[in-house]
Amino acid sequence: MLVTHATSGTDPKISLSYPDGSLIVRTKEIPWTPWGMPGTHFKLLHCDDASSLLVILLKVDPGTIAGVHKHFGAAHAYILDGGFGYEHGEVFQGDYLVEAGGITHQPFTGPKGLLLLGFMFGPIGGFDDKGNLAGMLDIDWHYQTAKANSAAGHIHRRSMEPAMAH
Ligand SMILES: [Fe+2]
Repeated sequence: MLVTHATSGTDPKISLSYPDGSLIVRTKEIPWTPWGMPGTHFKLLHCDDASSLLVILLKVDPGTIAGVHKHFGAAHAYILDGGFGYEHGEVFQGDYLVEAGGITHQPFTGPKGLLLLGFMFGPIGGFDDKGNLAGMLDIDWHYQTAKANSAAGHIHRRSMEPAMAH
């Protein structure tokens, strides 16, 4: 069916979620929430427990050295603004990168800071000074943290809905 104009869902401030899984997320309407490291902020755009997928906008202040963290699944990102550096090199506005699942590293931002659109296929673990796993940023953490900041009203987790009998 060819649709040449929308007949519903046209309010640019209201996010939409459909039973078939279709989504429109008005990211401008979502407030920034502090992320798991100092100087970092996120907007949770989408999550899917079944595939352990998290989609976020991540903003990092200029001159931030991230905590040492491990990616338990691959993280894909498109750099919207600024950039950052890590052991594999530097990434700039317009770059697309993949941080492989299983890597542990400590990125840093320059004077421009960073804004990226990220797709994480699994949680991120943070380590303390002794190299011990100190915390996990998984889907639950992102959802609960965003929700506490009134920034998850557009998120509908199918895993939290009641079972359906057939
Ligand atoms: Fe990373």
